Amino acid sequence: MADQQATDVTWHEHNVTSEERQKLNGHKGAVLWFTGLSACGKSTVANAVDRMLHDRGIHTCVLDGDNIRMGLNKNLSFAPEDRTENIRRIGEVSKLFCDAGVIVLTAFISPYREDRNQVREILSDGQFHEVYVNASLATCEERDPKGLYKKARAGEIKGFTGVDAPYEAPENGEIELDSDSKGIEELAKEIVAYLEEKGYLSV
Ligand code: ADX
Repeated sequence: MADQQATDVTWHEHNVTSEERQKLNGHKGAVLWFTGLSACGKSTVANAVDRMLHDRGIHTCVLDGDNIRMGLNKNLSFAPEDRTENIRRIGEVSKLFCDAGVIVLTAFISPYREDRNQVREILSDGQFHEVYVNASLATCEERDPKGLYKKARAGEIKGFTGVDAPYEAPENGEIELDSDSKGIEELAKEIVAYLEEKGYLSV
């Protein structure tokens, strides 16, 4: 984890409370942290949930691995320490959005359990919901929408998750989605139902 480098900085408390923000929005903030192998369906399900919630007037945003790595995190590689920094930064960004009252849907492989637990730590109680998008390596390799597994098997990409870099599945996550046998729509509905049941979609 990154150490604090700046000295002589002071935390400012905010004037508008999260309760006031919830009241204005008509729903609570939350972070749905989708994790799983490349091509397991994280981004696709997150975007489907985004659409369903948006159409109901809920404030949402999607933070997606490939996109964030082309902007905010363009200076990070896939070496283990850079993946950790990738997740740390996204955790902090998620917290900002969540505190602003938004339902945040993140889609990062986030292969290390410890990194995901650190994000859970920086978020407040009830904000972090770990969603394991469980698709077998065989399924992901068969889908291979970007041809990356093929390249990894051919040795053209080194340190590819599931091939020659580890993926540590959640042990005590809030939700597990069966992406081997269920379709996107069905999985997205499971997430919306979860949010509804837990009371996040109303105040
Ligand atoms: S993470 O491990 O740091 O969480 P992240 O979700 O941001 O990864 O990015 C994963 C995406 O980057 C994959 O879906 C894939 O398109 C691409 N990618 C490129 N190289 C690798 C690699 N070595 N391992 C995994 N994904 C990679």
